[in-house]
Amino acid sequence: MILFVNACVRDGSRTLRLAESVLDKLGQEYESVELGSAQPLPLTGERLAQRDRAIAQGDLQADILSYAVQFARADTIVIAAPYWDLSFPSLLKIYTELVCACGVTFSYNEKGEPVSLCKAKKLIYVTTAGGFIPERNFGFDYIDTLAKTFFGIGETVCFKAEGLDIEGNDPEAILNKTLDETDKKLNV
Ligand SMILES: Cc1cc2nc3c(=O)[nH]c(=O)nc-3n(C[C@H](O)[C@H](O)[C@H](O)COP(=O)(O)O)c2cc1C
Repeated sequence: MILFVNACVRDGSRTLRLAESVLDKLGQEYESVELGSAQPLPLTGERLAQRDRAIAQGDLQADILSYAVQFARADTIVIAAPYWDLSFPSLLKIYTELVCACGVTFSYNEKGEPVSLCKAKKLIYVTTAGGFIPERNFGFDYIDTLAKTFFGIGETVCFKAEGLDIEGNDPEAILNKTLDETDKKLNV
C-alpha cells in the first residue's frame, strides 16, 4: 500500500501538483491522509495519557492510534509539504507526533535503541519553496532522520522545486524541470 500524506493547504498548491505527478508515476492505488481537512490535534497531556492507555491495552482500534497503525502497514510513503518557515507546515509535525507511537511504529530493544515496526522501505518527500532551501534542509532532514531512526526506512528521496516566488522566475518551467528529475529518479 502507498500512503500519501498531504500537508498542502493552499488552493492551486504547486507542491500538490508535483506530488500528484509522482503518485501517477508510481502507478498504484494509494490511501491519503489530507491533513488540511483532517486537522489532527496535537498531543496535550490528556491526549498523551489517552494514547498511553490505548498502547498499554493493545487497543490498535483506538482513534488516537489510527495514523500510526496506517503508517506501520504502508509499503511506501509519499509526503507532500510546502517549504514553510524553513521547514514545513505544523500540521505535518502534529502528524509525525501521532505516528511516532512507541509500540506501534517502533519500539526499543534492551539496549535502548529504536527498532522499527513499520513495513515501508521507501519514503518520497515532495516540496516546493518560494526561495531557496539552504543546505540544512530542516523539513526534509527531519523527516529523513525520523524515517531512518524510528521507522527503518532506508531509502528516502526529496524532490524539490525552488525559487518559485522569486520575481522574474518562471514557476512553470521550474516545476517542469523538477518533474523531469522525478522521471529519472523514479525510472519512468
Ligand atoms: C506560511 C508560509 C511560509 C513560507 N515560508 C517560506 C520560507 O521560509 N522560505 C521560502 O523560500 N519560502 C517560503 N514560503 C513560500 C512557499 O515555500 C512557496 O510559495 C511554495 O511554493 C508554496 O507551496 P504551495 O504552492 O504548495 O502552497 C512560505 C509560504 C507560506 C504561505
